[in-house]
Amino acid sequence: MKLLLLCLGLTLVCVLAEEANSMSRNFNVEKINGKWNSIILASDKKEKLEEHGNMTVFVEHIHVLENSLAFKFHTLTLFYSIEEECSEIFLVADKTEKAGEYSVAYDGFNTFTILKTDYDNYIMFYLINKKDRKTFLLMELYGRKPNLSSDIKEEFAKLCEEHGIVRENIIDLSNTNRCLEARE
Ligand SMILES: *[C@@H]1O[C@H](CO)[C@@H](O)[C@H](O)[C@H]1NC(C)=O
Ligand SMILES: *[C@@H]1O[C@H](CO)[C@@H](O)[C@H](O)[C@H]1NC(C)=O
Repeated sequence: MKLLLLCLGLTLVCVLAEEANSMSRNFNVEKINGKWNSIILASDKKEKLEEHGNMTVFVEHIHVLENSLAFKFHTLTLFYSIEEECSEIFLVADKTEKAGEYSVAYDGFNTFTILKTDYDNYIMFYLINKKDRKTFLLMELYGRKPNLSSDIKEEFAKLCEEHGIVRENIIDLSNTNRCLEARE
């Protein structure tokens, strides 16, 4: 009986340890492949979240390649200050020497990691942009569907706050024009 309890105890410890390490050890990047939607955008610099800003891009898909991730986004461009149009942006982010980190040149130099994902519903990104000796943090929540539950949104908002982003810099995009009609 004692032995059985010991075994159960050890199994539980192992299971808990695996959960804590899921993003490093058990993370399977291939499972993030496919369609995604931008749900929340957050930054420590409020001006990076402007409606027609360079960083306000809406993901359509991620294709997992051997040493890189290929993203397709849409962005809302403003013409003659009145007319909005959705245009496509294709970016390929390459693995860096650090495990789990990718980098891509876009309006400066960006490095990002995946903070958390359950593959089937949501994925959370942490990105640092460097340009002209200035740095800002961008955190993004994507969903497989065009919207996510308020529970997942709240979990993401707490994570943003832990990284120093204030609530007013956490923008829910689900009720804005995200170029959904421009998707393939
Ligand atoms: C947006 O990106 C372009 C190209 O990198 C750059 O020229 C422009 O200054 C950027 N706009 C802002 C507001 O940062
Ligand atoms: C998205 O979900 C939120 C709750 O998380 C809800 O308040 C909002 O109205 C939804 N938006 C759309 C466009 O369905």
